[in-house]
Amino acid sequence: MKDSSVPLLGTPLSEAALKVMLLGSGELGKEVTIALQRLGVEVIAVDRYENAPAHQVAHRSHVVSMTDKEALRRIILAEKPDVIVPEIEAIATDLLVELEDAGVARVIPTARAAQLTMNREGIRRLAAETLGLPVSPYQFVDSLDALRQAINNEIGYPCVIKPVMSSSGKGQSVLKSAADLEKAWTYAQEGGRTGKGRVIVEGFINFDYEITLLTVRYRDPHSGQVETAFCEPIGHHQLDGDYIESWQPHPMNPHALEKARDIAKTVTGSLGGMGVFGVELFVAGEQVWFSEVSPRPHDTGMVTMISQEQSEFELHARAMLGLPVNTQLRQPGASSVIYGGVQAQAVKIANVAQALAEEGTDIRLFGKPESFVKRRMGVALASAADVQQALEKARRVSSTVAISAAS
Ligand SMILES: Nc1ncnc2c1ncn2[C@@H]1O[C@H](COP(=O)(O)OP(=O)(O)OP(=O)(O)O)[C@@H](O)[C@H]1O
Ligand SMILES: [Mg+2]
Repeated sequence: MKDSSVPLLGTPLSEAALKVMLLGSGELGKEVTIALQRLGVEVIAVDRYENAPAHQVAHRSHVVSMTDKEALRRIILAEKPDVIVPEIEAIATDLLVELEDAGVARVIPTARAAQLTMNREGIRRLAAETLGLPVSPYQFVDSLDALRQAINNEIGYPCVIKPVMSSSGKGQSVLKSAADLEKAWTYAQEGGRTGKGRVIVEGFINFDYEITLLTVRYRDPHSGQVETAFCEPIGHHQLDGDYIESWQPHPMNPHALEKARDIAKTVTGSLGGMGVFGVELFVAGEQVWFSEVSPRPHDTGMVTMISQEQSEFELHARAMLGLPVNTQLRQPGASSVIYGGVQAQAVKIANVAQALAEEGTDIRLFGKPESFVKRRMGVALASAADVQQALEKARRVSSTVAISAAS
């Protein structure tokens, strides 16, 4: 079957190359790059700092602020990629819409998906107001006064406030009472990407657990149609809005799982295109709430590098190229984040052999050029007969590895 929307694979560094440009070159982009390299794709990795993880495995790299529309345009027009893959949210997404409309490049999964998910307001209004999906009660406000009113009149305590443009828990806090109001507002002002005031205030959902449901939109080779496939649910723990460990499969009530899949299919279907999506959901009993979605692989999904036949990165690479995918679980697995723990320009990493001495363990070290105390520098992976054992193993690996300043 010939599909004009999916260009042919070819020979990298030649006229016949299929070129993919990654916007964002962190640890997730590094794995996507490796998956694309295996298919002979020419990869150009872009980030705002030098020697980012994906820069180190791509054919070429560029350093530019991806929110600088004209600077980004110059790089895209010079490189002429067939496909553009956003790896982060902070991108001049209006440029992606413009280039996609002009037929300059395909954006994965779509430019509109990147645009709607870079701002909590876009995706929340789509999910709740257009698609009618269950979400926490919410309001968008631009001032401390409006925030106070929204909480007093509608949302109540406890509640969560988040800058509309932020990720990894930045600027986010849980408010227990009116005493927390001013501090939370100030914190949200500092944590937002643009420094503008707008925040979302959400009712606190007292969930039993939260999951990432990795959802793949791909072209089925038999029907020729775009179909939706699901990975097994991934459970995870968050600390200050940042993921610290994850495991797969997370056991679920069958009705809750069915609802989760329905929600994921609806929201990803609306965003369209092909690729992996990380659908974040809260679950209590049989009740399921949509929280947010990444139109790309998800950090909690790093566990799939040990638990699945094809990792979320391979799935993303395959789906964007129109190739068939396999979302099968191979074995129960877990991941545990390795933080830098130090502020240093370069680090030495000790005890890796000792950490990996246990059977069924693995590690990814991202090679980031600078370490911060709370920077994710690597991830420990483990498999076992069940997720609890896998999680304990992964924790042993991440706590055994020792990072220190190089000099
Ligand atoms: N309304 C809510 N009720 C209860 N817990 C919440 C709520 N909103 C967020 N949380 C908790 O905070 C975490 C981070 O929230 P959210 O995913 O919205 O932020 P984020 O900054 O986009 O994080 P990330 O980029 O890491 O996904 C959630 O995974 C959940 O544990
Ligand atoms: Mg999240």
